[in-house]
Amino acid sequence: MNYDALLAARTENMKASAIRETLKVASQPGIVSLAGGVPDPAGFPLEIIRELSSRVVDKYPEAAFQYGPTEGFPPLREVLSDRLRESGTNVDRDELLIFSGSQGVLDALGKVLISRGDKVVVETPTYLGALQAFNAYGPSYVCIDSDENGPVAASLARALEQNDVKFVYLVPTFQNPTGRTISLERRKEIAELIRFHNVLLVEDDPYSRLRYEGAHLPTLKSMAPDHVVYVGSLSKVFAPGFRLGFAAAPGILARWLVIVKQGVDLHTSSFSQALAAEYLAGGHLDTHVPRLIERYKPKRDAMLKALDLHFPSDFKWSRPEGGMFVWVEGTKGIDMDEVYKRSIVRSVAFLPGRYFFARDGEGRETMRLNFSKADSDSIEQAIRILSEEVDRGSRRSVLAG
Ligand SMILES: Cc1ncc(COP(=O)(O)O)c(C=O)c1O
Repeated sequence: MNYDALLAARTENMKASAIRETLKVASQPGIVSLAGGVPDPAGFPLEIIRELSSRVVDKYPEAAFQYGPTEGFPPLREVLSDRLRESGTNVDRDELLIFSGSQGVLDALGKVLISRGDKVVVETPTYLGALQAFNAYGPSYVCIDSDENGPVAASLARALEQNDVKFVYLVPTFQNPTGRTISLERRKEIAELIRFHNVLLVEDDPYSRLRYEGAHLPTLKSMAPDHVVYVGSLSKVFAPGFRLGFAAAPGILARWLVIVKQGVDLHTSSFSQALAAEYLAGGHLDTHVPRLIERYKPKRDAMLKALDLHFPSDFKWSRPEGGMFVWVEGTKGIDMDEVYKRSIVRSVAFLPGRYFFARDGEGRETMRLNFSKADSDSIEQAIRILSEEVDRGSRRSVLAG
């Protein structure tokens, strides 16, 4: 049978992702992987999960195992909206919806908002999973420039003046892939711009609680509540396997997200939601997050120290105040795909940065390094090996140039 002929037209936009192959290789035994974006499994709060699991069985013998409302398990919606309010982001309980991972929100937003050819503004580089989610709906991307303080306001202003934009997608805090955070000044400028142009912005915020230093920054949602869909996740501060994400969407957008979700999975796992409700209401998030910070900060420090020590001085890399990633920009001409092929032979994996660019052909000289999964010693050794392969890559590019 010719299965190709059966595929819907939209699959043309959903390029089979080469990144899957890269990550498959990276997860083989014996490889030190700086490639994925996954938490350290040693940081999963297993004891708490064991205790809360039996509590959930006793407390919600029906609701935790029965079909539930598409909007989400009411006690979880309540505690999540309370938490957001406490940290300065006022969201209404009715506005807050639970999804199967924040990835589920991104897909639902694509389905509700994007008609083929609609303009979506993204940072350069941006989160690959958002591109994958949106691509199915055929957007046309307007890429704006970023610097170490986030998207450049003048570039965003130009994009909004010159295009009829459907929405802007940003990861303001400890961005994936760069680890960068939009400064307070820049946040104010962005909030002002989206209000002035009356445009919708999607604020994707899975990492902000993993802050190792510096002051907490207000969300864009708190600065322009009617213009921002806030997207959050419990993957990085609880466990990704529960698949718990959430959205706070203004106006009728919330209702449309619910309609879309109904058709996708009816609702997110009742048991996961009940467990998360107990986790949050019992104050466990507040005790667990400092432990995660204690776990990840030394790994970030080990990575930055090794980069300072071993990487070429004409390369640039980010110095994230939190999150899970360091972003490296090599000198022009170096091809990180080639570096990847050689480093994998030496049992070290990373993610070539080109996957995070909406425009084909950009970012060949960049790499994303994850520091949450491997231990500090392995990170140090991996960076040393990478530096040797990067040096060889640089020499080749000079010879070729
Ligand atoms: C910026 C960003 N958004 C969304 C996600 C998806 O997370 P989840 O679906 O586990 O909530 C990730 C995962 O790494 C991410 O980095």
